Order: sequence, then structure tokens, then C-alpha cells
Amino acid sequence: MSSDTIRKELLETARKLVGEYQNTIIESGGQAEFTFCGKKFVTFNDVCFTEGYDDIALNLPDETRKDARVLEIGCGNGCVSTMHYLQNKSKISFILAVDINPQALENTKANFERYGVPGEVRYSDVFQAISEDEKFDLVFWNAPFFNHTPTETGDLKIVERGFIDPGYEGIGRFIAGARKYLRPGGNALFGFSSTCGQIDILEEKAKEAEMCLERFWHKTLVVEAFVVDWELWRILPIDTE
Ligand SMILES: C[S@@+](CC[C@H](N)C(=O)[O-])C[C@H]1O[C@@H](n2cnc3c(N)ncnc32)[C@H](O)[C@@H]1O
Repeated sequence: MSSDTIRKELLETARKLVGEYQNTIIESGGQAEFTFCGKKFVTFNDVCFTEGYDDIALNLPDETRKDARVLEIGCGNGCVSTMHYLQNKSKISFILAVDINPQALENTKANFERYGVPGEVRYSDVFQAISEDEKFDLVFWNAPFFNHTPTETGDLKIVERGFIDPGYEGIGRFIAGARKYLRPGGNALFGFSSTCGQIDILEEKAKEAEMCLERFWHKTLVVEAFVVDWELWRILPIDTE
């Protein structure tokens, strides 16, 4: 099977799994409890599905500064930021979590309150509502990794923006802009799957922005009938290559 065929089948599998997951949550009144990294979280029905993302949260780099500030783009239900906070509680002073999905913002607020995460939840299309004066030690996005055009996918539902970024327009802006928000020594990373998505296109976008991508962590998982790679990629200026 060609990589394109595998990606198309994986997209259909993702849509099916997300649809089933959403229906289960709708049947339980629009919100459900789930376990992530051994902790209980609440998830809302229109927010991106997170099973399998545990390893992404657990493999983010530890914070080293005492007043560390974290920015999460595309926070979804906020469980990744919350886990990162719980693992670096003595270091993190502030987390800014943003998303384009209004229900994700409410969902993140609920989980931040549950675990006492110090921070702010804000609507932002990638960095659009974040001033370049706001600086962070970690800038992170567990990104939507399927790249399909709207004609291939039809109009996207808000929950589908969680796993489809048509033309990689959003991730492209993330790769080009993330390092502008870093304090000295900070890390800019994104979670991705190069089985579901096309890392070569992102490498090209990185190059255009005078950045390069370095694989920071990876793992192989079995999703239904597919063997799928998951990764964390670090964005670096091209001259450190
Ligand atoms: C793969 S989900 C990750 C959700 C959550 N962080 C997690 O790991 O469970 C990607 C998230 O990015 C958000 N998103 C998609 N496009 C975005 C954009 N242009 N700006 C901000 N957030 C976006 C989606 O709404 C979704 O919540």
C-alpha cells in the first residue's frame, strides 16, 4: 500500500474513532471523565480526542527555570498542559493555553481549575492573539497532523480541526513563529505523526522560515490495523543544523 493510501485510510479511521468517541460523550450529557497519564480529567464532546497522547505529555522536556512560563497552542481539553504542570510544579509559574475551538477553552479552564494550574486560557489562531512581548520557556503544540485539502475532506467540523490542518497552514505559521516567543534557552516543539502526516512538507516550510526540525522523541503505536509513528519535533534556527 502506498503512503498516500495509508494516510487516507488513517484519516478515515481517525474520523470514525473521533465520531464514536464524541457519540459516547454526547450520550453521557456532553461531558465525560477520562484517565490521562493516570489522572482524571473532564472532556467535552466537541473537543479533540486525546487517547494515545499520554506519551507526548510525558516526554516534553523538564522545565529548568524556577519561574518557567509555558505556551500551549491548541490546548484541546488542557490535559497535556496540566500534566506538564503537575510534573514540573515547583518550576512552572504560568501557562498560557490557546485554541480556536471555544469549547476547548471552556474544557481547559475546567481541567486547570481541577488541578490548580496557574495560567490563562485565551482564544487565538496560532499566535494571532499573543503579543511578541509575551515570552516563554516552552512553546508547544500537539498539532493536527493530517494534511488534506478542504475539497478532499468537505467543510471541516470544529472537532476535525484537531487532527486536520489543510495545507499545513497553521503548523507552517507555528514553525515560522514559535521561536520569537522563547526566552533564551527555551524550547519550541510540536507533536506529530509522520505516518499520518507529511513531515517532508513541514521540513520544507521550516527551511523557508530559516528553521530546521530535529526529532526529539518518537514511539511506534498500533492503531486499529496500522503501525503508526508518533513524534515530538524540535524547531531550531537553521544555523545550528
Ligand atoms: C491534536 S489536538 C491536541 C489537543 C490537546 N492539546 C491534546 O493534546 O489533547 C490539536 C488542537 O489544535 C487546535 N487547533 C487547530 N488549529 C488551530 C489553530 N490554527 N490555532 C490554534 N489552535 C488550533 C484544535 O482545535 C485542537 O484542539
